Amino acid sequence: MPAASRPTSRRQFLQLGAGAVGAAFIAPAVRTVRGSYVSAAGKLRTAHVGVGGMGGSDLKSISTHPLLEVAALCDVDATRLEAALKLHPGAQTFRDYREMIAALGDKVDAVVVSTPDHTHAPAAMAAMQAGKPVYCQKPLTHEVFEARAMRELAQQKGLVTQMGIQVHSSAVYRRAVRMIQSGVIGKVSEVHAWSNKNWGYDGGPFAKTEAAPATLNWNLWLGTAAERPYTPGVYHPGQWRKLIDFGTGTLGDMGVHIFDTPYAALELTAPKWAKTTCRTPTGIGHPEKNVVEYEFPQTKYTTESLKWKWYDGDLVPKTAGDLGLSAKAGVPAEFALPGQASLFVGEEGVMLLPHVAEPTLFPEKKFADYKRPDVEAGNHYHEFVDACLGKTKTSAPFAYAGPLTEALLLGVVANRFPDTKLDWDAAALKVTNVADANKLLRSAYRKF
Ligand SMILES: NC(=O)c1ccc[n+]([C@@H]2O[C@H](COP(=O)([O-])OP(=O)(O)OC[C@H]3O[C@@H](n4cnc5c(N)ncnc54)[C@H](O)[C@@H]3O)[C@@H](O)[C@H]2O)c1
Repeated sequence: MPAASRPTSRRQFLQLGAGAVGAAFIAPAVRTVRGSYVSAAGKLRTAHVGVGGMGGSDLKSISTHPLLEVAALCDVDATRLEAALKLHPGAQTFRDYREMIAALGDKVDAVVVSTPDHTHAPAAMAAMQAGKPVYCQKPLTHEVFEARAMRELAQQKGLVTQMGIQVHSSAVYRRAVRMIQSGVIGKVSEVHAWSNKNWGYDGGPFAKTEAAPATLNWNLWLGTAAERPYTPGVYHPGQWRKLIDFGTGTLGDMGVHIFDTPYAALELTAPKWAKTTCRTPTGIGHPEKNVVEYEFPQTKYTTESLKWKWYDGDLVPKTAGDLGLSAKAGVPAEFALPGQASLFVGEEGVMLLPHVAEPTLFPEKKFADYKRPDVEAGNHYHEFVDACLGKTKTSAPFAYAGPLTEALLLGVVANRFPDTKLDWDAAALKVTNVADANKLLRSAYRKF
């Protein structure tokens, strides 16, 4: 992309999403009182960007809603598109989301984005510029700047939005939020969170390149990312997660699920700083193992400040002793920890929350008679559909998902400056002490 055509301001970025396609949208035929758009039959008609992998799962889950009609499918991989079309034979198909949005106009009411992370914002911004509610997979975006822009555009247009963290609506996570907010362990001073997955790559450049399979449109897959030759097994499908130009490493990928409950329960905002301990940057992959520390300002559920520590890959704690908790926390040092979890340290006790499982309170004797709140599970997908139909509100709108993703991505940026505390001014969207870090908050979009 020539420098002259790169977006240089937020306004230009927002316009990028719309481009020529935004103008193609006109007011749909039917509008409910809450401002959502539906077909004349009262059904919400969805267009799906990315229909293989998680996109296939999103399609399956959302279409269990009785008032949902899958109107359009878009995928850059013809084999994946064909497989989805078999299940939704009435849908129109596209390879390029920009063409889909321009062509469908008022024949579609909402857009679901399930592509690799680097395409979330370009596709979702285009849909929102066109006035469409968006269900977007997690993490909300690939870059900090995009998370801010997505949140602001959704708010400006008053659109229904939902980030695809379906476990946010599980009974166990909802219950954990209630327990923390009820004060069962008192005010919280520390959160530890971890995932033993490894979505990093410590190796060098990829020597083997070849033509992409005929079924894959490589230019569209790259989208706004810088051009490069195709290498089998490295990018598509799924492996892009490990690479800095496309994914967000383990912290972005799993951290968004595992950060979600503490972030929601403690009503956190923007961190004061983030610091990552990891190998030196290679410019290619995210580190295969990280420890990321944050400090968040006080909220009504925390002590004066909140320390947050993330661990991934081989660096996850195996037993409670590895977390260095004080003896008064009441967790036996030899207590074996699950592979993915968060742990809250409060003034009155500790809560261990394994990933999508029931929490355990410590000291166990003290909480032996504790009665857990009854909480029902929600359906994250149906909630989005119902919100578009004006019947409810979503629980992970971009107003929530944006700041959560910004916080996570600041930690991802910090892995390019190991052992350096990045001081964060969220209002200015700026790292205040390391000028070079600001260059990584947003990359130039390639014209494709
Ligand atoms: N919420 C969850 O539990 C969960 C689980 C897995 C993945 N995810 C998220 O889902 C997204 C996809 O992950 P995945 O594992 O399915 O990846 P994947 O690479 O397996 O699948 C991505 C799909 O999108 C298609 N695609 C790629 N670029 C496209 C474009 N520009 N336009 C249209 N289609 C395009 C691919 O061909 C493929 O079908 C990621 O954001 C990931 O973080 C969420």
